[in-house]
Amino acid sequence: MRVEQFDPRTDEERLRACHEMVVAAQPDDDPNVPPPSLPMVRGWLAYGFGGDPQQCWLATAAAGTPLGCYVLQLPERENRRNGFVQLWVAGGSRRRGVGTALLAHAAGQASLAERGLLMGGARIGAAGAAFATAVGATAGLQEARRILDVGPALHARLPGLRASAEQDAGGYSLRRWPGLTPDELVGAVCDLYSALQDAPHDPAYESVVWDPDRLAAAEHRSVIQGTRDYSVAAIHDQTGDMAALTQVAVDPAGEPGWAYQQITAVTRAHRGHRLGMLLKVAMLEWLATAEPQIRQIQTFNAVPNEHMIAVNAALGHRVSDYFQSFELPVETALKLA
Ligand SMILES: CC(C)(COP(=O)(O)OP(=O)(O)OC[C@H]1O[C@@H](n2cnc3c(N)ncnc32)[C@H](O)[C@@H]1OP(=O)(O)O)[C@@H](O)C(=O)NCCC(=O)NCCS
Repeated sequence: MRVEQFDPRTDEERLRACHEMVVAAQPDDDPNVPPPSLPMVRGWLAYGFGGDPQQCWLATAAAGTPLGCYVLQLPERENRRNGFVQLWVAGGSRRRGVGTALLAHAAGQASLAERGLLMGGARIGAAGAAFATAVGATAGLQEARRILDVGPALHARLPGLRASAEQDAGGYSLRRWPGLTPDELVGAVCDLYSALQDAPHDPAYESVVWDPDRLAAAEHRSVIQGTRDYSVAAIHDQTGDMAALTQVAVDPAGEPGWAYQQITAVTRAHRGHRLGMLLKVAMLEWLATAEPQIRQIQTFNAVPNEHMIAVNAALGHRVSDYFQSFELPVETALKLA
């Protein structure tokens, strides 16, 4: 088996090999949602989350057949002792030690970058979770993925949900925009992203602080992915502060009818005014005209995140799957080689 690093920004052939492995195994690995499109995988492999460096490696058999791949994110600001790894093995090459070999390889790279802990995640019940347990990883936080069915039944409930939320949301105005963050809102949007710091997370994970450079990197990834992005914010009338934000992305290259909830956050000073519900209702009203083909919206919440889950449950989200975060000391993973 050869394991070679490649640049997903320029190496279309290896990028496509990774994407094809993910798509082919989707019915086994993650059957309740459509597979990611090539532009989505390109964006994540090439640009990651907020511009942090990452490495992509492809494993091939002697004849050049792709066996597996991994992406290792090596953050440079927060999480400087952690490496985030996602690995995939081709459906026909599983249970032959390829995954274990790739994880040990990733540990070697993480060690060179002076990381002490590998972090990753997998769907509970899927091969990834069994694999993580088998290699000795420790289970951390659980996340639930919920799906909202969008259609006439939901749209009929929106006026009532809006009226109820508005009773507690006096003194706030809504502002919405498509695409990139307008220049005058960049600082406020960074603050809203940073407000996620107090959302539940694993103890070893350091929450990230957002600044304009990091936001620009994340938005550059969205441009590369070609998503259509929608943002709705609540502005506090008295101070002009942005109090809450929700964002949804639509992937034109993906399965028609699906949309992806991004952040929903309310800053600490403005919680308790039902702004989360108000913004989500306003977003659904907007999408009904801007993206009338949407039939499902998926969203992820940490299992302990009661307030966000309550909003999603009231809207009608149903749980599709649970995901588990895992961590493994680099030292332990090195010994798997
Ligand atoms: C998880 C994954 C990478 C494992 O790759 P692999 O090459 O099959 O892994 P290995 O052959 O090295 O398996 C090592 C051990 O993990 C356990 N394991 C792996 N897959 C398993 C499964 N489907 N069911 C039960 N145990 C499993 C077994 O104990 C296995 O040893 P054994 O085959 O001797 O019993 C692969 O299934 C995959 O690509 N899944 C989708 C993506 C993913 O979830 N990645 C991991 C999270 S980042």
